[in-house]
Amino acid sequence: MMTANEIRAKFLDFFAAQGHQKVASSPLIPREDPTLLFTNAGMVQFKKVFLGQDKPGYKRATTSQKCLRVGGKHNDLENVGRTARHHTFFEMLGNFSFGDYFKEDAIRFAWTFLTEVIGLDKSRLYATVYLDDDEAHGLWKKIAGLTDDRIFRLGEKDNFWSMGDTGPCGPCSEIMFDRGEEVSCGPDCGIGTCDCDRYLEIWNLVFMQYDQIAPGNRVALPRPSIDTGMGLERIAAVVQGVHSNFDIDLFKAIIASAATIAGVAYGHNDEHDTALRVIADHSRSVAFLLADGVMPSNEGRGYVLRRLIRRALRFGKLIGLSDPFLYKTAGTVVDVMGDAFPELLAGREFMERVVREEEERFGVTLDKGLVILAEELDRLGEAGEAVISGQFAFKLYDTYGFPLDIVNDVAGKRGMAADEDGYRACMAEQKARAKKAWKGSGETDPAVLFLELLESGMKSRFVGYDALTGASRVNALVSAEGQAVERLVAGETGYMVCAVTPFYGESGGQSGDVGLVSTLTGDAAVIGAIKAGPDLTAHHIEVKKGEILLDQEAELAVDPAVRAATARNHTATHLLHKALKNVLGSHVNQAGSLVTPDRLRFDFTHIAAMTPDELARVEDEVNAAILLDAPVVTEVMGIDAARAKGATALFGEKYGDEVRVVEVPGVTMEFCGGTHLRATGQAGSFLILSESGVAAGTRRIEAATGLNALRHVREMRGEYDEGLKTLKAKPGELVPRVKKLFDDIRALGKEKEQLAGKLASGQGRDLMAGLEEVGGVKLLCARVDAPNVKALREAMDDLRSKLPSGVIALAAEQEDGKVSLIVAVSKDLHARFTAPVLIKDAAASVGGSGGGRPDMAQAGGTNPAGIDEAFAKVKAAVAG
Ligand code: ALA
Repeated sequence: MMTANEIRAKFLDFFAAQGHQKVASSPLIPREDPTLLFTNAGMVQFKKVFLGQDKPGYKRATTSQKCLRVGGKHNDLENVGRTARHHTFFEMLGNFSFGDYFKEDAIRFAWTFLTEVIGLDKSRLYATVYLDDDEAHGLWKKIAGLTDDRIFRLGEKDNFWSMGDTGPCGPCSEIMFDRGEEVSCGPDCGIGTCDCDRYLEIWNLVFMQYDQIAPGNRVALPRPSIDTGMGLERIAAVVQGVHSNFDIDLFKAIIASAATIAGVAYGHNDEHDTALRVIADHSRSVAFLLADGVMPSNEGRGYVLRRLIRRALRFGKLIGLSDPFLYKTAGTVVDVMGDAFPELLAGREFMERVVREEEERFGVTLDKGLVILAEELDRLGEAGEAVISGQFAFKLYDTYGFPLDIVNDVAGKRGMAADEDGYRACMAEQKARAKKAWKGSGETDPAVLFLELLESGMKSRFVGYDALTGASRVNALVSAEGQAVERLVAGETGYMVCAVTPFYGESGGQSGDVGLVSTLTGDAAVIGAIKAGPDLTAHHIEVKKGEILLDQEAELAVDPAVRAATARNHTATHLLHKALKNVLGSHVNQAGSLVTPDRLRFDFTHIAAMTPDELARVEDEVNAAILLDAPVVTEVMGIDAARAKGATALFGEKYGDEVRVVEVPGVTMEFCGGTHLRATGQAGSFLILSESGVAAGTRRIEAATGLNALRHVREMRGEYDEGLKTLKAKPGELVPRVKKLFDDIRALGKEKEQLAGKLASGQGRDLMAGLEEVGGVKLLCARVDAPNVKALREAMDDLRSKLPSGVIALAAEQEDGKVSLIVAVSKDLHARFTAPVLIKDAAASVGGSGGGRPDMAQAGGTNPAGIDEAFAKVKAAVAG
């Protein structure tokens, strides 16, 4: 049997032999394309090449591309598991021509590969072409010898391919494989007439000719090109002679692992099989998404990952899986595919931990949500309704993190569905609310201010890597209100754009430079610099003297001390990134970075809080690199050369053809546009200030360098000295002394309570002297010196034990001027009066109210002067 790995290798080798460059799969996250959520086809990484914006060193390429089809134009999620062929994650084999060969060679290569390299039976192959594509039609006859009845002309839906709503597109030609009469769906079975999969579409050859720049607006590509795509799983199913993609070798071990954990067998029960297929499919997507740097979250790509995990868990429930299992089946994916995709191996442990934590977290809410959903479905069923309201579905999402597709999966079983439009409306409403709240916070977006300048083509050249001063013309002035102006006068703030500038505009997480501007007519402080566009720096200025005029020459000077402090933190950030990878593992990736003159902040992917030992090792490693005083070398080079050199790029970051690489030889090498030290020793020192969690799987380190680190330690030392002085302790005694103080305080507190109780009840002996007899009832009314109600109650308990039959009324005046009153009535007297009855009137005298049980009632009041009157009332009541 030819394995999927062999088919992949044969494909790439075949096209390499035809002059194609073997190119590695790009990540699932399209690096340079904000229009796409995920890479959904082999051509995505070549989009710019097709558009003529990028020129790699080759005109032909071949890949096996990781693809994900969830969300967007190509979305297969709902079908996964229910059909034999749909996947969220799959591999697409492809060959590409960038303005080199066109239809004829594309058809010849495909035909040769299918019939000669993997030996498919020619008589089972058919072709489809776009309606009026006579050329392709003729070529299929000429090259493959297909007769007219085996070539079908189909319309836009089948034979016109586009990447998304915009992007390269063109007519296409598909190759179909006949799986045989026996799987036919009936008399109407045929290409273009039915949807069954007797005729399986195995390869799509796209004749790329256009760029869809907007709906209804297509322009021709610079040169006609070729993009083809063949699903590896599908062709493997054909070659391996199995009905379903899920029966190919790549899936067997993953399905088996899920089946074993659940204790079920595959192939015996439709519902179980669907669940096993969904779990196998989602295990692959989850493993690959995490390997490519996506973390579970509540929006965008992270939310897709979260949904996949949750959906897999839901299906796991159907086969009795209630403990975390997905991290294990995703681990099997690494076993099966790690050789072909080393990124899986590198991040294995991290991936498994993230999945497991996500499973544990969702397990509880899933159960709750399912119960609530079942109740709603029962209710709807009884009411004869079939639509779950958008609000309800949204509430499930909002409160329990229940994705819409799980709602639909569960509801679908009972022939019901959610109102998706209503759901989306609720979601949009919530987003709008959130946005409004944000806008209200007074933030402004400088990019909006500068859009017009950018559109007019204005640019500024950055010369600040080498120089801190320079002279240039003032090309634009913008007032604080965002208006283009001709002058800014003393006292005013605004923005200034120059043709050339040594000021670094805030970007890549590094804060902008500050400094001075002076012209013949005035001086200004540069209080910040921002990047309004890739090549446009805006200086935020405050005019100090005279005025700054449009079109005049200005002298620009960056504050060297601030620049140096910032550079210390930036170079240290690179050293930190590397040290974290060394100490914690290669799964560590930068998730965010902020570099200012005062400190640095670095967010990175890692699941657990760092231990004191890990922090110390990282700190040591960075300081060792500083002590090395190694040179910091920067070089601008082609992006491929930079990647080949092993420079670290950031996930999801957009890079041009030329990139700047910042290297500390032997220590770190990163793509980076920031300003750095000349040698690591200039950083002076590196001190971690804090380590904390910012989101699931993301940690944050804040650190300081140079004099800032020293300053920080000095502050800590000051506080320490102050502590010693206060406690009159010697160095080394601080912690034991503080611990002892805590213990003493706790012991004193206890003692105090006991004393208070004793004090109050101790009065009891004397108090009994006040006992009198009223109407044949023993009555004791007394003021007690009790600091709180608890002590008063203890006194009462003591007195009651001494007076088995009778009435006791105690009052205490507290320090804050409030009164506490307690009345007790022994049981034998309850037929005559009870404590709540007696206390009611009495409480009124002390300006309060109260109540309780027949044997004991309590009241609080604010009028201590009324205590005697209260006692008199009790006495009168007892006297009857
Ligand atoms: N880009 C084409 C597809 O995905 C080949 O079908």
